[in-house]
Amino acid sequence: MVYHSGFGHTATLADAVAEGAREAGAAVDLIAVASMSDDDWDRLDSADAMIFGSPTYMGNVAAAFQSFAEQTGRRCVEGTWQDKVAAGFTNSGGKSGDKLNTLISLAVFAAQHHMHWVSLGLGPGWNHSMASENDLNRLGFFLGAGAATDVDLDAASVHPADVQTCRHLGRRVALVTRQLNIGRTLTPAASAPAAS
Ligand SMILES: Cc1cc2nc3c(=O)[nH]c(=O)nc-3n(C[C@H](O)[C@H](O)[C@H](O)COP(=O)(O)O)c2cc1C
Repeated sequence: MVYHSGFGHTATLADAVAEGAREAGAAVDLIAVASMSDDDWDRLDSADAMIFGSPTYMGNVAAAFQSFAEQTGRRCVEGTWQDKVAAGFTNSGGKSGDKLNTLISLAVFAAQHHMHWVSLGLGPGWNHSMASENDLNRLGFFLGAGAATDVDLDAASVHPADVQTCRHLGRRVALVTRQLNIGRTLTPAASAPAAS
């Protein structure tokens, strides 16, 4: 779990994603990009999967997350994270808040590293007359998990449906990663050039 959170909302969601992944049997580390140690970088380099999380600031990932992304340039060139699994989530104040753009940025970041992006894997919630804001995927994202938290609420007040949606994402990524790992024991990797 690799995330930034300025005011704690995205951190609450990171906890939920981690919980879901652990439920599905994964060993999870939470790494805050604003204060990374050498050990944290080593953990990322040896991880099977990374789930990226950032609040949406000015319609995109937070500057701290982009700073982290830019520090991975050498790894990108050398293909250090190539073929690892990736997924993402974001939180914003607005129900839309342009946060699709944030998920796209996270997916492009993963693609630049030649990682395998995992979608949210849920149909859109809250999209018919009998539906409610308590539905899973209530904001109807496909690329990753998108949450909205009123800007005046604290980190403990993140919407429960968004928490559950993030838990789902964690479980799904852990399952896909396990399937891929098992497949890799049966199918030798083809030799591939470095990521860039
Ligand atoms: C500098 C800044 C820019 C923001 N830009 C957006 C935005 O583009 N769209 C939006 O809906 N909310 C925006 N917000 C609100 C945050 O996305 C929202 O408060 C979010 O819950 C913050 O997550 P965090 O607590 O993990 O930092 C912005 C907040 C800040 C501080």
